[in-house]
Formats: sequence, C-alpha cells, structure tokens
Amino acid sequence: MKKFLDLIADEMKAAFAGCGYEESYAKVVLSNRPDLCEYQCNGAMAAAKAYKKKPIDIASDVVAKLKEQCSVRAAAGETPVFLDEDVNAVMPGFINLRVNSLYLAEYMEGMTQAPKLGLDEIGHGETIIVDYGGANVAKPLHVGHLRSAVIGESIRRMGNFLGYHMVGDVHLGDWGLQMGLIIEELRDRKPELVYFDESYTGEYPTEPPFTISELEDIYPTASKKAKEDECFKERAQTATFKLQNGYAPFTAIWKHIMNVSLADLKRNYGNLDVHFDLWKGESDAEPYIPWLIQDLQDKGLAYESQGALVVDIAEPTDSKELPPCIVRKSDGAALYATSDLGTILEREKDFAPVKYIYITDKRQELHFTQVFRVAKKAGYVKPETPMIHIGFGTMNGRDGKPFKTRDGGVMRLEHLIADIDEAVYARIMENRTVSEDEARETAKVVGLAALKYGDLSNQAAKDYVFDLERFISFEGNTGPYILYTIVRIKSILGKYLDQKQEEAEASAVLAPSGSGEKTLMLELAKYNEVMENAFAETAPHKICQYIFDLSNAFNSFYHDTRILAEEDKARQASWIRLITLVKDVLTTCIQVLGFEAPERM
Ligand code: ARG
Repeated sequence: MKKFLDLIADEMKAAFAGCGYEESYAKVVLSNRPDLCEYQCNGAMAAAKAYKKKPIDIASDVVAKLKEQCSVRAAAGETPVFLDEDVNAVMPGFINLRVNSLYLAEYMEGMTQAPKLGLDEIGHGETIIVDYGGANVAKPLHVGHLRSAVIGESIRRMGNFLGYHMVGDVHLGDWGLQMGLIIEELRDRKPELVYFDESYTGEYPTEPPFTISELEDIYPTASKKAKEDECFKERAQTATFKLQNGYAPFTAIWKHIMNVSLADLKRNYGNLDVHFDLWKGESDAEPYIPWLIQDLQDKGLAYESQGALVVDIAEPTDSKELPPCIVRKSDGAALYATSDLGTILEREKDFAPVKYIYITDKRQELHFTQVFRVAKKAGYVKPETPMIHIGFGTMNGRDGKPFKTRDGGVMRLEHLIADIDEAVYARIMENRTVSEDEARETAKVVGLAALKYGDLSNQAAKDYVFDLERFISFEGNTGPYILYTIVRIKSILGKYLDQKQEEAEASAVLAPSGSGEKTLMLELAKYNEVMENAFAETAPHKICQYIFDLSNAFNSFYHDTRILAEEDKARQASWIRLITLVKDVLTTCIQVLGFEAPERM
C-alpha cells in the first residue's frame, strides 16, 4: 500500500505543479502543532525566493489548487483527501492540513484487508548478512552479548518481514587464545588424558573429557592463571598455535569443547527467542586465510611493517588518523581482522549479499572500519555494497557503571533472565487472578518482553541503564505496557464475541466519531512508513517509539469510548474493526522486535 504521507504529498505535488511551481517544494511533514493541523507544508517559503513572490501568495495559490483537485475527485465519485475547510494558507506562508476523515477511514479499511497490513515487500529476496550474537565458545554468555543478540535478532526479523532474505550468523569466537588456555588447563587437571600422550596413535574418545559446568570452571581459572603465570600463558599460546595448524589431538579436544559449549549456547539463545541461520565461527574462516594473505600481497596492498603484515586504510577525508589494519602478526598468527576478512570471502562465495550488517559493542568500531576498507580496497566486496557496523553502547547498572552482579562479578545472562522472570512473577501474583502455573508461564513471556524492549527502545549507540523496576512496570514506555495494551484489546474482542447475538453488519471502518479516534487512525496510518524507515536506518528503537505512541493513542481512545455498551451496532462493529487493526499492528511490531504477548496478564 502506498504510504499515507506519500498520498498526501502526491496531492500537494500536483497542486504545486498545477500552479506552475516546482514539485520539489511540495514536501509535507507531520505537523508540529497538532492543535492547529495534522500535516503541514512549508514549501511556499522556500519557493518565494525562487519565484520572487510573497510566500503567502504562493501558499494561497496552492491551497486554491488543492481545493480544486479535491472537488474534481468528489465529482468523479472518489473520496477527496481533503475537505475545503481543512486546507489553509496562514501567515507567513504555511499550508496547514487536516485529512478528510472518511479518506482516512478508507485507508484503515484498506490496511485491514491488505497482506501484511499494507506493508510492501521491498526486499524481493535479496540476501543480507546479519552478523550478531558473537558469543565466545567455552565462555558463558554474559550481558555484554545480550545487546548484540537482541538487536541483531530484531534486525533479522525486520528484514525478513520486508521480503529480504536475511542470513543471520552467530559468528562464534571459537578459534582464539581461549582454546589454548582451556587445553593447557585441561592438561594440568587431567594429564593422563590420551590427548596429551604424544605417543598415542589410536582413535580419540567420542565422550568429552569434561561437562559443561567443568568447562565453565576451566576457562576462568585458566584465564586468571595466564595473567599471573607467564609460562602458562606461553604454553596456551603454543597450544593455540598448534590447534590452528591442525595438530590432531588438540583438534579432537577443540571438537569436544565446541560440542559441549554449543549445546549450552543454543539453549541460552533459544531462551532469548534469538535464532540464527548459520552457526559459523572464526574457525570457518581459517581455510581462506592463506589465500587472503597471498592475495593482499599480490595486489600490493599488504606490506611488512615491524615484522607484521599490514594494509593501509587511511583516507584523505578521515577526521582522525586511522592506523593500518594488521593482517598477520610478527609471529605469523592471524588476528581478529584476518578472520573477519576470511569470513567475508566465504560469505561472498556462499551468498554474494547485497548488504552486510554487523552488531557489536561500539568499541569495535575501528576494527570494522579497517575490515570494511580492506574488503573494499581488495575488491572482495563490491563498492556499492553497504557494510554497516552497528556499534551499541554499554548496559549499565543504576549506579551508571557497567552492569554487574550484586557482589560485583560479571552477570551471567541466565541469571539476569531468571531475576526478571521472578520479578514479573511477583508482580503478576500481586493481582492473584491467575493460577501459579499460568503466572509462571506468563512471567516468562512478559519478562522477555521487558528485557528486550528495555534494550531496543534506546537508540543502539547509547548506553542505557538496566532498571529492573522500570522495565517490568506495566505503565510508561515499557514492554509490559505494550503487552498490556494488546491483552486489553484481546479481552474486549473476546467479550464482544460473547455478547454478540446476530452476525455483525458486514461493516467497514467508518469515519472517526471523534478526535481521539482520528488521532488513533492517524497513528495507525504511519505503520508501513515506520517499518520501512526503521529497517533502512537499522533502528529498532523507532518501532518501539511507534508502538508506544500507538498504545497511548489506543488507551486514550478506549478511555473515552464505551465500545461494548454502544447501541449503534454499525458504529460498534466499526470500532471492533479498528481496534482489531490496532492489535494486529502492535502484534506484528512486537514479533519483529522479537517478543510476543500472552493471552492474559
Ligand atoms: N566474539 C566477538 C566478541 O565477543 C564478537 C564477534 C563479532 N562479529 C564479528 N564478525 N567480528 O567480541
């Protein structure tokens, strides 16, 4: 469906052109004075200079033309966009507009009948890679990985919904020093294992030499040891190097680490309702690296600098000096950037995507600038293919410092989720309208919404404060408030069905009966535009802002309207259609954000 604002803009363009003015002056925006009008056009002011006329004269010309257009439409039996009294030229040259209520109602009716509520599939199946999650194998998921997962999942869903073929890749950290650390710590704990017997030539066991809880203990211990014990650190580095060069016993341990850890990661991401199409990792880039290094040298891009191999990426327009990208260390080891470049080669081969989106902490910004520039310079990615890094801010505690557990440790994601669910459960039980079992289930659904909305409603780049009390509140700009609105509509619809005797008149949405209803419709009319923009700007917070406004508009309409007691059945049926649309828009939006609503709460 055409966007509502575009329909209005088209009308305005025709009027400007009809008066002999450039169409480009006909820009229409939402009014910043809702008390005066709904939309406005300020183009007459700019046109005044070009045409050497008074702005008010231009505005008056255009307004007369708009009215003329509308009467032509009315005469042809169409519903005009504006009624005469709703288009006004005001000093010094504003054009103030209100839309024809009937025209708006017809747009609502169109939405209820259109696939995807009137959203156009602009994607046509083009592939976009979304790289998010980024968990490190064998290290527990912590809240730092939460934001990547939550934001990435939403962007993946948005793209798919708009008709793109989104390929979400978790891109695990599965190849770094942590592997060497684990191997050497395992050697210290269980030196008798066959992996450490150099004379062993048999098959390696299929049973892992550790459980997930052991593994979770091994890594932090090893990491601490490496900080205190230089010799242990060197052993870990050697082990990492051997692993990366295909040493069989360590490859066998690595596979065990992967299996044990992946099962756990999948469960954790599943609890967050976060899903990936690919479970690839840094290790998958390995086979591409020798060719990559050679190619960068052959192309004259990579050169030796203090023993390392580097590629210059600085550009004359940079506002600060950017260091070259190191693709090989002096000891021959590959780096984070190397593996990201190798991964790009693989993605180009497998998918040739039209866009790349990476979601990590904003502290990785330089890394991605370097990687993207090398990929473009070397011609691995087409010049016109956008490569976007969404760098998010830190999730802080109420003290304004990075979020920690009560005793100051790193908070594990599972514990964070459990805390939220518990708090929501307590809140639901305050009302005691449902059974404990149902309250537990509902708490999970609402808790996840609270967590995700609390994150997504902030602009990604900003830090935000994780404020449990606020996030789980049923009032204000929160996930539970949105869910509460949906649940409320479901309950009205349920009651309506129960009380309805005869088939409701085959109704359409009628012109709004009051200003609250019109405001609600105007909010609904923004839906397809908001969705498209939010994806184009990779900005889920715009969807959050939208559903908050829409929920407010619904709740104030509902406050003033006695839907179920209405005697005029056609009017009542129209309201039912309208609030069903509100529910459907809200439900669609939260699905795209990555959570759902319970039946009751
Ligand atoms: N594992 C990395 C980390 O924990 C994040 C990976 C992000 N993705 C990427 N392609 N570099 O910081």
